[in-house]
Amino acid sequence: MAVTQLPPMALSAVSDDGGATQGILRRQALRESAARSYARALPIVPVRARGMTIEGADGRRYLDCLSGAGALTLGHNHPVVLEAIRAVLDSEAPLQVLDLATPVKDAFTDELFATLPPGLAAGARVQFCGPAGTDAVEAALKLVRIATGRDGLLAFSGAYHGMTAGALAASGGACAAGVTRLPFPYDYRCPFGVGGERGAELSARWAEKLLDDPKGGAPDPAGMILEPVQGEGGVIPAPDGWLRRMREITAARSIPLVADEVQTGVGRTGAFWAVDHSGTVPDVMVLSKAIGGGLPLAVVVYREELDVWPPGAHAGTFRGNQLAMAAGTATLAYVRENHLAQRAAVVGRRMLERLRRFAAGRPQIGEVRGRGLMIGLELVAPEAGPTAEAGGIAEAGAIAEAGAGAEAGQAGSAARVGPAARVGPVADADWEGARAAQARTEHPRSRWLQAK
Ligand SMILES: Cc1ncc(COP(=O)(O)O)c(C=O)c1O
Repeated sequence: MAVTQLPPMALSAVSDDGGATQGILRRQALRESAARSYARALPIVPVRARGMTIEGADGRRYLDCLSGAGALTLGHNHPVVLEAIRAVLDSEAPLQVLDLATPVKDAFTDELFATLPPGLAAGARVQFCGPAGTDAVEAALKLVRIATGRDGLLAFSGAYHGMTAGALAASGGACAAGVTRLPFPYDYRCPFGVGGERGAELSARWAEKLLDDPKGGAPDPAGMILEPVQGEGGVIPAPDGWLRRMREITAARSIPLVADEVQTGVGRTGAFWAVDHSGTVPDVMVLSKAIGGGLPLAVVVYREELDVWPPGAHAGTFRGNQLAMAAGTATLAYVRENHLAQRAAVVGRRMLERLRRFAAGRPQIGEVRGRGLMIGLELVAPEAGPTAEAGGIAEAGAIAEAGAGAEAGQAGSAARVGPAARVGPVADADWEGARAAQARTEHPRSRWLQAK
C-alpha cells in the first residue's frame, strides 16, 4: 500500500446554519448527562471529517488535535479504513458474531501478531474483549490473578486504566485495597526531588525495596500494570531504562508485567508499540483505541503460559465486531507498511521543538514533553510559584494558541496534543535521519530480546 495523499476536503464557507448548531448544543446540554466531558470544552457539532480536519454543522473547520482520544491513528475517514469497512458490508458477512471464528477475525489476528514484540508474538494468545479499553484492562487483571493465584496489584501514581471497577482501582487517585501504588518517574514533579535518570532509578529502587521487604506491606502481587507513557496522567513518558528495570524486577520475582498500551499503541509514540523503544517484552499487553481503526475494539495479548483461565472466564456480548476488526486490520497494515511510527517520531520531534519555542518566555507553560505524537504541556500558575499547578487548563488562558487538545495530568493542569500519525509533511532529510536512527536502535534491541 502506498502512502496516499488525501484530496483536501471540499471547503464549505463558514455559514450561518440557521441556528441548527446552537439548537443541537442546547438540546445536548438539556438532555445529556452531567458527566459528559469533552462536549463541555468543545461546543462543536461535527458533521464531516477527513484526516485531521473536522467540519462543524455551522461550516467551521477545526484542526483535530485529539484524534478521538488516540483512536484515530490515520485520522478521520482514511480511504483504506473506509474501503475495509465497505468490503465487509458488501460481502454480507455477519456484523456481530460473539467470539466465533471468522475470516475477518483471522486476518486481524495475523496482522496484530505480525506487529507484536517478537519475544511476545512467539506463542502469544489473544483474548477479544468487550469493545472498550477498560474491559481489556479488567480481563488482564483477571488473567494474571487466575494464573498466579495471587490477588494484589502493583500500579503507579498518576496512572489511568479506565472507568470500570478494577481499572479504576488500578488508576492513580484510587484508594483501593490490594493495590500497592508505586511512584512513576515524573521529571517535572519528581517525588524524590531530583528528576532525570536519578529520579527514575530511585523510583525503581523504591519498588524493589518494597517488594523484598517482608514488612513492606505490599499484598502478594498478581501483576504490575503500567503505561509506557502516562496519557491521562499528563503525557509523561517512562524512561526506557526505568521500563527495563521494571521488567527485570518483575521477572526476577515471577510477577507478570502488564503493559497498558491502550493509548500508546499503533505508532503514536514513534515506535509501533511504546514498549518497543526500550526493547521491553511484557507478559501481557492491553490494546484498544487505534487497533480498531476508529471503531470499538479491545484485546489482551499475553504469554501462553498464563492461559490457564477456564472457558467463559472473561465473556461479553460485543467481542465480535467485524467492522472494527476489518478497520483495525487495514490500520495496522497501513501503519506498518508505511512506517508511520517513524513518521510520528519525526513529526513529534519537530512539534516538540516548536512548542518548546512557543513556551519560552511564557511562564505559564512549565514544561513541554512527550514522545512521538503524544505531547503534553504542563501549565503552571507562576504567580503562585514557578511550578505551582495551574489547576485546569481552562484557567491558564493563552493555551488555545498552541492548538492543545484536552486536559490531563495532576489537577488537570496538562494540556495534551495528540494528532493523527499522518499529520504534516516530513522533509526528506528528516526522514533519512529517522530511518538511520531506527537502523541504529534495531541492533541493540534485537540483542536484548535474544538475551531474554
Ligand atoms: C492507558 C489507558 N488505559 C485504558 C483506558 C480506557 O479505555 P476506554 O476509555 O476505551 O475504556 C484509557 C483511556 O483513555 C487509557 O488511556
